[in-house]
Amino acid sequence: MYKICSLFAGVGGIDLGFLETNKCEIVYANEFDKYAVETYEKNFNTKVDCRDIHDVKLNEIPEFDIMVGGFPCTSFSVAGYRKGFEDDRTGDLFFEMERIFKERKPRVIFLENVKNLVGHDKGNTFKTIIERLENAGYKDKIKCQVLNACEYGDIPQNRERIYIVAFRDKEDYDRFQMPLPTPLDKTIKDVFNFETKVDDKYYYTEGKYKGNIYRLLTEEMDDDNTVYQWRRKYVRKNQSNLVPTLTANMGEGGHNVPLIKTKFGIRKLTPIECFYAQGYPKYYKLPTDMSDARLYKQAGNSVVVPVINRIAENIMKALN
Ligand SMILES: C[S@@+](CC[C@H](N)C(=O)[O-])C[C@H]1O[C@@H](n2cnc3c(N)ncnc32)[C@H](O)[C@@H]1O
Repeated sequence: MYKICSLFAGVGGIDLGFLETNKCEIVYANEFDKYAVETYEKNFNTKVDCRDIHDVKLNEIPEFDIMVGGFPCTSFSVAGYRKGFEDDRTGDLFFEMERIFKERKPRVIFLENVKNLVGHDKGNTFKTIIERLENAGYKDKIKCQVLNACEYGDIPQNRERIYIVAFRDKEDYDRFQMPLPTPLDKTIKDVFNFETKVDDKYYYTEGKYKGNIYRLLTEEMDDDNTVYQWRRKYVRKNQSNLVPTLTANMGEGGHNVPLIKTKFGIRKLTPIECFYAQGYPKYYKLPTDMSDARLYKQAGNSVVVPVINRIAENIMKALN
């Protein structure tokens, strides 16, 4: 079994993709959002270290072979780090990963992030990440690629993410390749529940919301093979049979949860459906007493599990 150290673990999407290879175990997971930790611990045997990663000392992390993490990028600020803002505990989260891999030199480092990481801060952010990996001993042993979930994970979501895999040993690197595209066989009908009624709170009905939203929705939403979005004043129709990229701010302000038309009416996706749109398996459990807002955020923050799993399978082949 390869031992995994999972940072910024969230609700464990990356962990799940690796565990499903049956060749790994999570020996350490860190995540400081107590609600995400609650969801995580409902599904995994690992007890999460829920301290801020800055407060974790190196000798508190057990031995591991593989480090994984989708570090928060929104706040990434190389400039802030360079200037040494001591009170900035959000802009330097990649450097917290570096602090650990620099010393521990794991056999594999797996990073996931938004596609825009490459262009962030005129390319400086990405350049810095690669340089730091190289300086830690991973030079010429790094593969990275942007993969869209609908092309690489058989999941009908348009979600492009960058995956960076760094190897300590050249032989492992040489044996590794990113997964090849795979046909999209799953449809939104396989992912969402069109046949059963869900809780009334998810449906749009006449007079439930201010203004003429309901009328606009019923006029525009004529296709039950499409996922729609309400955008302040208009209804946006997405590409047929694809879920738009789920985001962490779904359900907040103008960022609405995607909508579908079912025989029971027009409704929002439920939180568990958002997890399914990320490729989570049916056995994954959500806490029953947590607010929808928190669960939508957790789903939107997470990853497409089958894409992670396909990369993890290739990593396992490379290590064997
Ligand atoms: C993009 S999400 C990762 C989600 C994860 N890959 C998943 O599948 O759910 C980043 C996570 O980092 C956590 N985080 C941010 N700052 C942190 C810190 N200083 N210490 C520990 N966790 C932190 C956030 O709470 C969030 O859950």
